[in-house]
Amino acid sequence: MAAPSKPQHGAIGPVPFKDVIGDAMAQRSSPEEEYAGVVSSLPSYPKLRLRHYQGMWLMEYTLPGIMAIQRSFVPRRHGDVVLASPGKCGTTWLKALAFAVLARGAYSPASDRHPLLRLNPHDCVPFMEGAISEGWGGKIDELPSPRLMSTHMQHAALPKSIADEPGCKVVYICREPKDILVSAWHFFRIIEPDLSFQEVFEAACDGKFLTGAIWDHIIGYWNACKANPEKVLFLVYEDLLRDPANIVRKLADFLGQPFSSTEEEAGLVTDIVRLCSFENLKSLEVNKMGEASFAFPNASYFRKGKAGDWKIHMTPEMVECFDTIVKEKMHGSGLVFA
Ligand code: A3P
Repeated sequence: MAAPSKPQHGAIGPVPFKDVIGDAMAQRSSPEEEYAGVVSSLPSYPKLRLRHYQGMWLMEYTLPGIMAIQRSFVPRRHGDVVLASPGKCGTTWLKALAFAVLARGAYSPASDRHPLLRLNPHDCVPFMEGAISEGWGGKIDELPSPRLMSTHMQHAALPKSIADEPGCKVVYICREPKDILVSAWHFFRIIEPDLSFQEVFEAACDGKFLTGAIWDHIIGYWNACKANPEKVLFLVYEDLLRDPANIVRKLADFLGQPFSSTEEEAGLVTDIVRLCSFENLKSLEVNKMGEASFAFPNASYFRKGKAGDWKIHMTPEMVECFDTIVKEKMHGSGLVFA
């Protein structure tokens, strides 16, 4: 495969974040120290490495980034797109799809030089609070427009510049909450091998999840989408599994880049679906080897890629208990997971 080319000056976004970072390790400026004192004073839940902040239990390592975003993150660039999720809902897939859709002018999805063939989707689309916690805030500023970024922040915690700015669009993805738990447990066990599913389950029932209470996360974006469907697109992983081509078209329409009839006839939608499919991404060398940020191997983002794994992990009592809580919390929202 051809060597990666650095984005040129004046390039049109999105471009792979990793290409922008390049070898600029020296340019890192971490907000960690600035916020370290505040973070260490917050109540903690060590089992899941969480801290209690603004009424939510959140991943400790993301807190410096969250604080920095809340204090000063101003996208203000027309065309910015933020992909949001509570985590373990297909964010990786959505990143790949959104990148392939928005960058299709520069990179044909059928090309053997496509960035997604050499980079993990998380290296193409920066996870804002993680990247900023790691000191890459300056590099996010450097991304050419339109920028494509992601967050696990709850809607209520977003700064106005993302939540209210009309030029900044938000695409949210979630899934059946029980599958979020199962996927999160498998993921988190990579760094906490002794963690039992029971422990993750009990914590989640108590509102302790990696990105705050799951139901609050989902309802926040659901309500934001209902209030302003031009600004927030609400996607569900299971719908994406059922009919990815339909969701790809929906995504392109929402982002203001609908597929032309020429593109449709050329099979671009099918090419994007194929490029970003679970089987294809999982089989790529870069996703079998290599490590994305925060000590998680690239391979850990591609586990089963199916719906309903909770059926083999949860007892009938667990299902009953969790479904009851979720139903109660989501009561009146009109949102139901089939
Ligand atoms: P499972 O653990 O249920 O297999 P996130 O990207 O938000 O961390 O979510 C990870 C989940 O999305 C994992 O679910 C993973 O297997 C699944 N996933 C990742 N890429 C996918 C793809 N291209 N198609 C379908 N599912 C995918």
